[in-house]
Amino acid sequence: MRAAAPRAFSAPDLAELRAQVGARSGLPVDEREATAHDGVWAVGDDSLLFAALVAGERPGEQLARGVLLDKWGAAARAGREDLVPQVEPYQDHDGLLYRTALAYHLDIPVAFHGHTGVGKTELVRYLACLLQAPLYRLNLHGLSTTDDIIGKLLPAGAGEVRFQDGLVTTAVRHGGVLLLEELNATGQEVWFSLHGLLDQSRALVLVEKDNEVVRQHPNCRIFSTFNPPEFLTLYPGTKELSTAYLRRWASIRIGFLEREAERALLLRRFPELAAEECRADVEAMLEVAALSQVMLEQSASSFPFVFATGVLHAWARLVPYLGPLPAARMTFYDVLDERLKAVFREQVFAYSTPWDLSALG
Ligand SMILES: Nc1ncnc2c1ncn2[C@@H]1O[C@H](COP(=O)(O)OP(=O)(O)OP(=O)(O)O)[C@@H](O)[C@H]1O
Ligand SMILES: [Mg+2]
Repeated sequence: MRAAAPRAFSAPDLAELRAQVGARSGLPVDEREATAHDGVWAVGDDSLLFAALVAGERPGEQLARGVLLDKWGAAARAGREDLVPQVEPYQDHDGLLYRTALAYHLDIPVAFHGHTGVGKTELVRYLACLLQAPLYRLNLHGLSTTDDIIGKLLPAGAGEVRFQDGLVTTAVRHGGVLLLEELNATGQEVWFSLHGLLDQSRALVLVEKDNEVVRQHPNCRIFSTFNPPEFLTLYPGTKELSTAYLRRWASIRIGFLEREAERALLLRRFPELAAEECRADVEAMLEVAALSQVMLEQSASSFPFVFATGVLHAWARLVPYLGPLPAARMTFYDVLDERLKAVFREQVFAYSTPWDLSALG
């Protein structure tokens, strides 16, 4: 029997890593400079190399690491093409895509946690889009029940009942990327119903369907997201996840983007803001975001506002049509309470922007 081709690679730098992948797989590795922001390279027609520089053992040491994943074929997703997300290019940071691809390769369930708008959902959507995989995305909430996610008995006429799979069961049965959103907004009943899927048995038991055992499809991968529970004022309704439960997931914390990466992403998404006359406004907007993030991290009770990429993009979308301050009002400022408005005016906008603030209410 022929040994399986290697899937995980490491090398002193990214160029050597790509050369190694090319030599070992016998396939051409795309140069694709243009996608350098996501750390993904096409390998032949059907595979992708996800790579990142990862800290080595010694101080300051870095190692390039990569994992090779096959894209889904047309037959595997047949009839489910609409579930493959269409997304804009992702701005990778902190080796997020590599770590997510690695979890995909090893079939490790991952819980992504971080503030609202840092790109948790976008990361998983992007991976599914690159792999051309169907995405089953489920928003959990306080009223979610196992009926909603696992399935329930429904009347089928003539006094008969029929079990209808919930979204989780559908993904587990047929394969796909399963994304459970807001994991800590739901209750224990839902967490417990997923235990079998997350432990070694990797199966769901459909109690209402004569205890049918649905084993995890070889192409099913499980991801979840949650907002940090330590910020109860920011995310009301979220619960502390028990250690026993978290043990069943690997976890990846997603932080705010660094300024350089945030700027590059902003200008790619909104090319009209790259014009010379917009430069000062763009820098001011980035400064507003960065200063707000520092203030949140210093004290979420004095500054209960999360200025992540999501807010910045919503703001940027309106800037070309309204100008920065009216766009800020429409995007986030006008719904703040009076105290937070004053903090934004006097401690954020006044320090980070050259704008005339008299137009702010
Ligand atoms: N690294 C990134 N690259 C590209 N786009 C990003 C990135 N981070 C965030 N975004 C953009 O910011 C917006 C918010 O991202 P997303 O919805 O994924 O946040 P989230 O972390 O899932 O937030 P929530 O906790 O509210 O669900 C999206 O429109 C996405 O396009
Ligand atoms: Mg989300």
